[in-house]
Amino acid sequence: MVETEVLKPDAGGIARASALLRGGGLVSFPTETVYGLGADATDDRAVARVFEAKGRPSFNPLIVHLPDAGAVAGYARLEGDAARLADAFWPGPITLVLPLREGGGLSPLVSAGLPTVAVRVPDHALARALLARAGRPVAAPSANPSGRISPTTAEHVLAGLAGRIEAVLDGGPCAVGVESTIIGFDPTPVLLRPGGLPVEAIEACLGGPLLHRAPDSTINAPGQLGSHYAPVAPLRLNAAAARPGERLLGFGPVEAAALNLSPSGDMVEAAANLFHHLHALDSGGAMPIAVSPIPDTGLGRAINDRLRRAAAPRG
Ligand code: TXA
Ligand code: MG
Repeated sequence: MVETEVLKPDAGGIARASALLRGGGLVSFPTETVYGLGADATDDRAVARVFEAKGRPSFNPLIVHLPDAGAVAGYARLEGDAARLADAFWPGPITLVLPLREGGGLSPLVSAGLPTVAVRVPDHALARALLARAGRPVAAPSANPSGRISPTTAEHVLAGLAGRIEAVLDGGPCAVGVESTIIGFDPTPVLLRPGGLPVEAIEACLGGPLLHRAPDSTINAPGQLGSHYAPVAPLRLNAAAARPGERLLGFGPVEAAALNLSPSGDMVEAAANLFHHLHALDSGGAMPIAVSPIPDTGLGRAINDRLRRAAAPRG
């Protein structure tokens, strides 16, 4: 439990919110759509805590918030139709799923291991002041516990997350009240989630109809989610120990682990290490990987969900 601070929408509140974010804290902040649950997107532990605070049972990818379109270049490629939409509608309630720039420093948890990243520039003075001051890309899903409705006031945020986050920056009610519209590129533009910016406005800008796709239809398919990080090596879950020829990805105080997600059994640490360790073990060749049992509670559910997908047969 942490004491959740309620911060005023002034210079002092922004400075405090920024300091908390930069220190790895979770800070809810208002955008024009809904309140976000923000974390430094370059900090593995902070991003892992977002999933813990929300009680999300899976690592779905998060939206990265930036103060302006110029800040995108460090993390993703903004070109063609995507650049046109950014020019027309940012700041505003549209999120663009762009090719991730390798080496940009984002935690792989932000993009759930995908080679793309969702970015947006919110149209909210307080949000942009905070993003500029923090000087970090901020990963932020809506600031509600998983499965509950999205918050449009600081009171809603506190009702769901008080005691689980460091602070909420109180900017009053959100003007739009529904999440941003999400557009992916196939490379033709595709509507991934309807939201605050009408599809008609987007189609008028692009000069043609948008393809539609069920939200999360690709990112939730076992073979698709993080195929980028889905190990080439076979994965055996709930392994008490490594068999000959296997390398052990440990959890807790196990012996002879090639790598350990968290020797002390800390779920936040384990989630923060998950993609890094899978990647490292995989780059060692196709040697089979055995994984220690991980309790299926709290963040452990999201970790196990991810490991099951990685272990599932791929076509
Ligand atoms: O209005 C909003 O967009 C709010 C405020 C806080 O900005 N944020 C928000 O984030 O709604 P969240 O985490 O609830 O929605 C993220 C969704 C994912 O569930 C997924 O559908 C999509 O964005 N997404 C994120 N990254 C993606 C990727 N790389 N590929 C495809 N879809 C992605
Ligand atoms: Mg949400």
